[in-house]
Amino acid sequence: MLYVNYHKSASWLSVCLVLLMWFLYREALLHPSFVNNKAKFESIHDEASQLNEQPWLINMTRHRYELMDEYAQETVETTNSTFKWILLWNKYPDGRDFRIGAGHHRLRDSGCPVWQCETTLDRTKIRQADAVVFHLRSWRKNDLPKQRSPHQRYIFWSRESPVWRHRLYDTELMAHFFNWTMTYRWDSDVVGPYGYVKPIANVPLHPSDDHMKLFLSNPTGVVNYAEGKTKMAAWLVSNCNAKSSRKEMVTKLQQYVDVDVYGKCGTMSCSKDQAKVCKELATKKYKFYMALENSLCLDYVTEKFFDTLQYPVIPVVFGYHDNYEKIAPRHSFINAAKFENVKQLADYLMLLDKNDTLYNQYFWWKPYFKVRDSTDDQALGFCHLCAALHNKTLIPKVYHNLTTWWDTESKCAISPRIV
Ligand SMILES: *[C@@H]1O[C@H](CO)[C@@H](O)[C@H](O)[C@H]1NC(C)=O
Ligand SMILES: *[C@@H]1O[C@H](CO)[C@@H](O)[C@H](O)[C@H]1NC(C)=O
Ligand SMILES: *[C@@H]1O[C@H](CO)[C@@H](O)[C@H](O)[C@H]1NC(C)=O
Ligand SMILES: *[C@@H]1O[C@H](CO)[C@@H](O)[C@H](O)[C@H]1NC(C)=O
Ligand SMILES: *[C@@H]1O[C@H](CO)[C@@H](O)[C@H](O)[C@H]1NC(C)=O
Ligand SMILES: *[C@@H]1O[C@H](CO)[C@@H](O)[C@H](O)[C@H]1NC(C)=O
Repeated sequence: MLYVNYHKSASWLSVCLVLLMWFLYREALLHPSFVNNKAKFESIHDEASQLNEQPWLINMTRHRYELMDEYAQETVETTNSTFKWILLWNKYPDGRDFRIGAGHHRLRDSGCPVWQCETTLDRTKIRQADAVVFHLRSWRKNDLPKQRSPHQRYIFWSRESPVWRHRLYDTELMAHFFNWTMTYRWDSDVVGPYGYVKPIANVPLHPSDDHMKLFLSNPTGVVNYAEGKTKMAAWLVSNCNAKSSRKEMVTKLQQYVDVDVYGKCGTMSCSKDQAKVCKELATKKYKFYMALENSLCLDYVTEKFFDTLQYPVIPVVFGYHDNYEKIAPRHSFINAAKFENVKQLADYLMLLDKNDTLYNQYFWWKPYFKVRDSTDDQALGFCHLCAALHNKTLIPKVYHNLTTWWDTESKCAISPRIV
């Protein structure tokens, strides 16, 4: 009896311990402080003064643009393959039909190499559908297809991060439901990033330290990117309530350097339909542009970044999980998360502001790379979906626990403390 009781309490104790450890782990995962991340990031701090070769990064970045190249060159086994049907099940909020559009020739018009798939919004096509794409945010348990055949693939599609989950949907209800994921995350079955960077010359995204020193000491162009710039940093923003602490960071940065905030959350105005013009003007006048996302999740890098790279300005990002290091050339952006605190970031920006040589080094990559973020580039995910539907060798797959894949493995940092 005593023996049994002892065991009982021991197992209770271990359950409590496990729960406590899980809780601490979760807290650490969800609320990392600016400082705690420093140690992790220190080894890949990428300032010209202390370059570090990162073989895994070289591999990973190469894999990424090569994957997009593969998507752009896929083939179908037979030229007379019959069309596949892709049913876009629910509504995408901005009304643009999942950003691909519906129709017989949509994929061909988007430049897909395999385009023999018809996209449709017509739910009566459910029986023919080879794939049914569900937009995460408007997925509802009581609004799903009534019948399902085993050959059909149900696709989980999202362009947003998981940070906004609790108000809108519950991935627990999506257990054993989806076959493939289709998101900006690079470990999705069908990868659909907001953009990517592709070398157009014989140079990797992450050249070795020695190569980098050479690149940085031999500016290729005659362009002086600092010329005519009279202002420090600009930020165009419309959503003030993000969970990425971006507003807190900018506010703190403003204690040391001028950051002009345009839009609803700031003091400078720029009408929403003029955003492109504003940005173009801003990137001519300002040395730095704050390219800050609304959430800090694995691979969540949106047009804010890719668009900024196209301009003659240095993007300042707040990057967890080495999101930016994995997709952009070395020394093409400044990652605020790599600094010990905002003061040090400010000091670094001021150093670049005072020294045109250092400032211009951030543009070394311009002749060697191309930023790919056009509408057609963004359609590559759908291109690949079509090619995959035509691929007879792919075996069945099911996401038994989508919460794990999406909510947990996205490793979102929620409102980290800014120091
Ligand atoms: C890079 O990739 C190659 C080929 O896939 C592999 O052999 C090598 O071990 C990888 N290196 C690192 C550092 O991951
Ligand atoms: C494609 O055409 C070939 C030769 O005409 C035929 O044997 C084959 O069955 C066709 N395939 C499909 C999927 O229609
Ligand atoms: C600017 O930085 C470069 C490269 O580090 C250095 O050689 C140069 O002396 C600096 N110029 C000034 C004015 O500090
Ligand atoms: C089908 O998918 C497999 C596994 O991803 C791939 O190796 C193969 O090249 C694909 N076949 C075609 C015709 O695309
Ligand atoms: C898709 O998922 C369903 C539900 O889990 C499963 O029954 C079916 O075999 C899967 N089909 C494919 C082609 O992966
Ligand atoms: C899915 O995994 C999460 C942890 O990642 C767990 O909390 C949840 O209970 C699991 N759901 C199902 C349906 O198994």
